[in-house]
Amino acid sequence: MAGTSQVVLRPKTTDEVSAILKYCNERKIAVVPQGGNTGLVGGSVPVFDEVVISTQLMNNIISLDDLSGVLVCQAGCVLATLEDHVSAYNLTMPYDLGAKGSCHIGGNIATNAGGLRLLRYGSLHGSVLGLEVVLANGEVLDCLSTLRKDNTGYDLKHLFIGSEGTLGVVTGVSILCPQKPNSVNVAFLGCDSFSRVLDTFKQSKQQLAEILSAFELIDAASMLTVKENLNLSSPIEDYPFYVLIETSGSDGNHDKEKLDRFLEHLMETGIVENGTVATEPTKIQNIWGLRERLAEALMHDGYNYKYDVSLPLSKFYGLVEAMRERAGAATIRVIGYGHVGDGNLHLNLTTSEYRQDVMDLIEPYIYDWVSGCHGSISAEHGLGFKKKDFIYHSKSKSAVSLMKKMKHLMDPNGILNPYKMLPSD
Ligand code: MLT
Ligand code: ZN
Repeated sequence: MAGTSQVVLRPKTTDEVSAILKYCNERKIAVVPQGGNTGLVGGSVPVFDEVVISTQLMNNIISLDDLSGVLVCQAGCVLATLEDHVSAYNLTMPYDLGAKGSCHIGGNIATNAGGLRLLRYGSLHGSVLGLEVVLANGEVLDCLSTLRKDNTGYDLKHLFIGSEGTLGVVTGVSILCPQKPNSVNVAFLGCDSFSRVLDTFKQSKQQLAEILSAFELIDAASMLTVKENLNLSSPIEDYPFYVLIETSGSDGNHDKEKLDRFLEHLMETGIVENGTVATEPTKIQNIWGLRERLAEALMHDGYNYKYDVSLPLSKFYGLVEAMRERAGAATIRVIGYGHVGDGNLHLNLTTSEYRQDVMDLIEPYIYDWVSGCHGSISAEHGLGFKKKDFIYHSKSKSAVSLMKKMKHLMDPNGILNPYKMLPSD
């Protein structure tokens, strides 16, 4: 997606953002807040000639309390930079994304980004302790609390987490960083069927319990994508499904013992066919690369139809099979990967260039399918511009109606990220 904006503003301070919004609101000039521009649903891209407010220069780290683990920073800090900063204090960021090298924390909050370790640390609704937000009229809303517990009135920060810049522009963040684990192990396993993947998940919750930090799926077609398009290689032979399990904890011997016992059980019972374990950082990195670089690998095909849905685990892979049957012949590939541990499937199809006939095979079929299982049509990427008109597949009329009332109350001139998230009706 590419807009036709004439103006990009790069404020450095909250006061500058406030002055910009006051000016734009008085003149009814539409704006698009933009972080690292790594979104996947067109949420940070202008549709017409909206003014882009980039957080690129708002990249100051304000404070880090290494006892409580509370980090306070500006919205334009890049996630990987924050991770490097807190690492030096033996802390880690409570979320991790493939786009960490360029995404901004403000954008992560605006989209309520989930990522690879949500299974362990929960969503940003739990980790974010406070926000500073500039409202449509330029007023600065100071909710930049650093307290873990604060039951005084409505917890307004939650309104802005996942609101995709439609209610205010996040300028400051206070976030709780957990202790950095001393020991990290990754197991990469091959399974014969998706039901074996689910058996593995069940066992991992029981046996790895508190040290389980990620449970990710790659299907055979995904593995082929990174092999063909990025020249990566698998550490194990070919299987219909691969599972990436990460453990992290404070005692290497304890964690390794637990992981070995768990893997022994999986092999003995035939739940898993084959696998490898990585303890050294380079090997761990290489295995994570197979999963994290899938989005990049897909781009090499030409056009990528991307879907990010939440489904009950019993239906999780059924959608990939249904879509493959429906659109497989018309596409280069139909692949399924994602955060099984969170019930979040990434279903992707590719063609060499955009084709309306392929799109007609996918939508609204996919949304009807998800809605039929009481899933969500957007698990973690948001609705942005691309998916906003399908909101009713996941939200009731009364919920959308209240969202619209809130939007009108907080942004009566409709200047904040118009044409995004809420349906056009
Ligand atoms: C991921 O989990 O890799 C990201 O959400 C991006 C994607 O869906 O490809
Ligand atoms: Zn994801």
